[in-house]
Amino acid sequence: MKKYCIAANWKMNKTISETKEFFRAFLPLVRGLEDREIVVAPPFTALFAAAEEIRGSAVRMAAQDVFWEEKGAFTGEVSPAMLLDAGCSHVIIGHSERRQYFSEDDVAVNRKVRAAKKAGLEVIMCVGESLDERESGRAFDVIKRQVETGLTEVSPEHLVVAYEPIWAIGTGKTATADQAQEVHAFIAKVISGLYGDKAGPVRIIYGGSVTPDNVDSLMACEDVFGALVGGAGLKPESFGRIASFKKEN
Ligand code: PGA
Repeated sequence: MKKYCIAANWKMNKTISETKEFFRAFLPLVRGLEDREIVVAPPFTALFAAAEEIRGSAVRMAAQDVFWEEKGAFTGEVSPAMLLDAGCSHVIIGHSERRQYFSEDDVAVNRKVRAAKKAGLEVIMCVGESLDERESGRAFDVIKRQVETGLTEVSPEHLVVAYEPIWAIGTGKTATADQAQEVHAFIAKVISGLYGDKAGPVRIIYGGSVTPDNVDSLMACEDVFGALVGGAGLKPESFGRIASFKKEN
């Protein structure tokens, strides 16, 4: 049985003191939930403080991005080894905001995924179509390209693929369980095409306006193995409720 992965992406939110405050309220809410992987992704500046807070708990930490080089003259960038050193076990790569605002393409995403996995980080690679791509019938082609290029020469272990339809991010417009399942099943097929019978460990998680109210129905979908949560991941109570989702049958 695959462990569900429930991750909060804080984006450009929270200072160090806000980070500490969050974990002091959040950790008691998820104590004992060991059948699932709970991950929080603070901004770079709060990683070290967050690592101190989660020490001794089962909660894991992700960075929101990484660079593919190991060290050197790359002003503003952070290497995989630096993330491990700060206490990260995971890293989010290829979020649609990175693709949209920082011109990251599938080739850059692939370089980052390979470098992060080589260093021993668990990767959460994001894919997803825009509204325009969905409405013009190109969603599946776009997602297939993102998955296949992003995972070129990448092994299936320690790998999570997050399906995040861009039209559902921060809009309050969640994909319905049926819409999510349809794309997740498609991604599962693309991943099987890449890895054959070794595709088993790869988890596909859903992101885009996940809330305490819709998490149970999304997690009930056959090919959905977790969630990547933005806005609702900023509050201990709402993320605590999401992380405590109950699997409906
Ligand atoms: P949202 O963000 O939950 O606020 O829609 C999701 C994400 O961008 O990962």
